[in-house]
Amino acid sequence: MKRGKFITFEGGEATGKSTQTKRLAERLQQAGIPVVVTREPGGTPVGEDVRELIMKDRPTDPVTELLLFAAARAEHMTSIIRPALDEGTWVISDRFIDSTRVYQGKLYGIERTFIEQLERFTVAPDYPDLTLILDVPANEGVERAQSRGTLSRYDAQRIETHEALREGFLEIATAEPQRCVLIDGYLPVASVETAVWQAVSAHLLAEAD
Ligand code: TMP
Repeated sequence: MKRGKFITFEGGEATGKSTQTKRLAERLQQAGIPVVVTREPGGTPVGEDVRELIMKDRPTDPVTELLLFAAARAEHMTSIIRPALDEGTWVISDRFIDSTRVYQGKLYGIERTFIEQLERFTVAPDYPDLTLILDVPANEGVERAQSRGTLSRYDAQRIETHEALREGFLEIATAEPQRCVLIDGYLPVASVETAVWQAVSAHLLAEAD
């Protein structure tokens, strides 16, 4: 049995990840590929509890937050992601390790080696096969977050925050070009969907045949 492929969507606040996650899943299903859609934090009861906790009262210490995300991820890998990949199902996750690297690492200053160690114990060797990074200008991120009413979260009202997040994701895209594809998330939704499909076709569908 062929192992499933693991795709993640990443990007700052309000970059359109959730919409594109759903659209890609529909396209894969239409192509006859079994797919599981999930998200982080979330995807399991523990993960959804962590999401609720973090959204409600952000911990004071960024390390607390990092460990909560890591705990949710361990559970997610073991009970959802690995079993699906093992049975040949593709997995699409709305956020994954790069969100930790950028939010807890770049934005909140936690040492990279600590984050990498946690990845080793939670994710390795099942890193994503393809990561689609949705990139939107920082001012657009602020406007979108404002219109969604998510302003209080993660300093989303500050343009500097969106700039730092954007830069962090761009750095990852540059450092890992074999895994990551940068997508212009400022384009109309249908054009983003086309770009996503092109990336998936080029990177994964040809070799899945
Ligand atoms: P969202 O997925 O609805 O955008 O909300 C998740 C929030 O959690 C978002 O602000 C990014 C943040 N987050 C981290 O800070 N670290 C992580 O590892 C993950 C998965 C999410």
